[in-house]
Amino acid sequence: MKPEIAIIGAGYVGVPLAQVFADAGRRVVLVDVQQSRVDRLNNGDSYIEDVPSDVLGKLVGAGLISATTDYDILREVDAILIALPTPLSRQREPDLSIVLNAVGQIAPRLRKGHLVVLESTTYPGTTREEILPILETSGLKIGEDFHLAFSPERVDPGRTDWTTKNVPKVIGGMTPACTERAAELYGSAVDTVHRVTTPEAAELTKLLENIFRSVNIALVNELAILCDRMNIDIWEVVDAASTKPFGFMRFSPGPGLGGHCIPIDPFYLTWKAREFGFYTEFIELAGKVNEEMPYFCRSLVSQALNHSKERSLKGSKLLVLGVAYKPNIGDMRESPALKLISLLQNAGAEVSYHDPHVPQFKEHGLEMVCVPYAPAEYDCVVIVTDHAEIDYAQLVDDAELVVDLRNATGPKGTASDKVFKL
Ligand SMILES: NC(=O)c1ccc[n+]([C@@H]2O[C@H](COP(=O)([O-])OP(=O)(O)OC[C@H]3O[C@@H](n4cnc5c(N)ncnc54)[C@H](O)[C@@H]3O)[C@@H](O)[C@H]2O)c1
Repeated sequence: MKPEIAIIGAGYVGVPLAQVFADAGRRVVLVDVQQSRVDRLNNGDSYIEDVPSDVLGKLVGAGLISATTDYDILREVDAILIALPTPLSRQREPDLSIVLNAVGQIAPRLRKGHLVVLESTTYPGTTREEILPILETSGLKIGEDFHLAFSPERVDPGRTDWTTKNVPKVIGGMTPACTERAAELYGSAVDTVHRVTTPEAAELTKLLENIFRSVNIALVNELAILCDRMNIDIWEVVDAASTKPFGFMRFSPGPGLGGHCIPIDPFYLTWKAREFGFYTEFIELAGKVNEEMPYFCRSLVSQALNHSKERSLKGSKLLVLGVAYKPNIGDMRESPALKLISLLQNAGAEVSYHDPHVPQFKEHGLEMVCVPYAPAEYDCVVIVTDHAEIDYAQLVDDAELVVDLRNATGPKGTASDKVFKL
């Protein structure tokens, strides 16, 4: 039976989205340029941790999920959802080339009755100014012949309480009919749909969410640096402030921002704002503070070695524990571990890493393989990502020295003079 929905981009967003529609009994085809990914999906072999292979396998077996590299499949479906990467260029400007190339492939295949939805995070105006003109080269009329909307993906990879299914879906169509058409589609699979009046409102909604995180993380990071000078435990302060039942939301300090969204998306707005002669100062300041964190964390490691072992970074054997950008997943994109490892190596340290989710990686000029977990063999263990698999209380016993950038060692770490915390 032919698929009803095509999702272009079979990644962290596309595959869980396909599962949600398939769970609701809709037939989905994932379109991706990577043949190896398409083959794995068609074999029910998942590479996305949020969609385990046994779940994917059943949906593939039931004919609800399939995958292809052939864009001609778009002619057969009713709805085309775009979940492609939106990175920054080397000059830190929006790079929409992947999305726009894909839309260029959709246009000649567009037919009456098609619904197209962009899910990729982007600046306000993208759907109207960039996507619509390409689709209109088909000669079809928006709101009548075909429908177009923006609906941001809000998935948080690795999270199980809030998923693509139960996080409300914000939808802004080019016309009221476009919004309704998209709301009808998503409403058949997700729990709640929230309509806004324009695609621009939906585009900015997603950016507001990410900027909110970036700014609040920067605030707590700045306080962490101050607390180091004032000899106050930032974690104790954050825990105490979090007891307030209203008007406060918990954010934790750390070695820097990671992932595809928070370090990148705010700058999509900064770029667009310039067109209006406006400077997004909160975003810039937050970016500056957060980018400083790996440097501050390097100095913490250096001080810890100096104080407790009378050693310098140069020549010390270090184990970085956890390199993924957040706990319990293997995603390395923009991970602050990469910057920190480079800084430690540049200072002459001999750096190894252990991460139960990352067997090896090749990113940002680094190429490393995970070493076995043997904390006692190092001058210092640096906890960069606090995966659940590690027994941190035991680590405090086993290691000679620990720098804990995530408060993973808890009260035991606070009490031990072997542990230096952010
Ligand atoms: N990952 C997240 O946590 C998350 C959360 C919310 C929103 N987003 C946004 O969603 C979008 C997609 O991100 P992602 O994390 O799923 O990306 P991803 O890198 O995991 O997946 C993208 C997929 O697209 C494929 N691809 C690249 N070019 C293609 C083309 N021309 N045609 C077909 N397939 C192509 C790649 O092979 C890859 O499989 C981004 O805009 C991102 O900002 C991501």
